[in-house]
Amino acid sequence: MRLIPCRKIREGMELARDVVTGPPGTAPLLRTGVLLSERYAKALPQVGIGSVWIEDDLGRDIDVVEPLTAETRERVHRATGDALDAARNALRNGAGLPDSVVASLAEVADALVADLLEIPEAALTLDDLGTFDAYTHRHSVQVAVLGLLIARRAWTREGWIDYRGRRRYDRFGDRMRKLGVGLLVHDVGKLAVPPEVLNKPARLTDDEMAVMRTHPEAGVELLRAADLSPLTVSVIRDHHERPDGTGYPNALKGTAIHEFARFAAVADVYDAVTSKRVYSGAVQPHVGVGIIRQGAGTQFCSEVVRHFRAVVMPYPVGHEVTLPDGRRGVVAAVDPLDPDRPTVRVPQGRGIEELQVDMTAPPAVLAEDPGRRAGGARVTR
Ligand SMILES: [Fe+2]
Repeated sequence: MRLIPCRKIREGMELARDVVTGPPGTAPLLRTGVLLSERYAKALPQVGIGSVWIEDDLGRDIDVVEPLTAETRERVHRATGDALDAARNALRNGAGLPDSVVASLAEVADALVADLLEIPEAALTLDDLGTFDAYTHRHSVQVAVLGLLIARRAWTREGWIDYRGRRRYDRFGDRMRKLGVGLLVHDVGKLAVPPEVLNKPARLTDDEMAVMRTHPEAGVELLRAADLSPLTVSVIRDHHERPDGTGYPNALKGTAIHEFARFAAVADVYDAVTSKRVYSGAVQPHVGVGIIRQGAGTQFCSEVVRHFRAVVMPYPVGHEVTLPDGRRGVVAAVDPLDPDRPTVRVPQGRGIEELQVDMTAPPAVLAEDPGRRAGGARVTR
């Protein structure tokens, strides 16, 4: 299967995955196997769907792993939605968040972790959840999936450092659960930010930015009555702190920022820039990966970025890419050890050509010599 933007939908294309616009658990708008028609090219973007998975010759036998089972996805979305509703009520009534809400978040974080332990590294395709574009909790769930996958890699390979400076490999599940809960509600404090600031399509003024920057501490305040672990709280309070001290709310530096919050910062920024937001469009995965890579050591913890790069591929399988020679193709495979040189399928006459392409090569015009095609691309088959 492969992912195409809705504007490229043509008569008779076969849908490879359900299109869901409502909360998980509701009937899909379109079911897998349906033959699309061109009117969907216009109709789907109007309900918040930017792209769809289709099955055709170019995408044949390209398997894309779903990070979460449909059941877990439904549970996670419901629990996150309930938590946000409860926080909204708490804000209105000045009451705390009921313990039951926190307990159910911990339960779904466990389910999330159990699902994520099953998937291979570097198999992440965040567009798996892209059909929830129209759904408000999408960002929380995506950040949780991504942050947990980065943490899984870091902790299983290199363990974690306790307050005495000892490297440890125990309490993995417990830490994953606490991180998961924090990631699911990391932005809960945004409920306290006036909607006209939160949803402003233009650049924020200094005063508006100051209001926006209150959301981490507002989140901690909202959850104060809940019996949350200090590790979970660090995600909510410190996910906008930056190692070079330019973050907020406390301008913490380096390892003064808790590891949990350092995971959250990378997951939060990557998902934000690769998702469509009210104030800017989505960038391609390779641009998002580039932003994180460039920020290593200043905006983001270098160690976390190293693990992120092994988990998030700049050219994910099933995605369309533009080759350095300008042709368009579909990523068929990618080696996590060599992520900038994916194997790409390109329509060639009536057939399909498969090439390993160096995506870092400078853009070039199509050369006559087939061996030099694609500005450094190597024909492998
Ligand atoms: Fe935030």
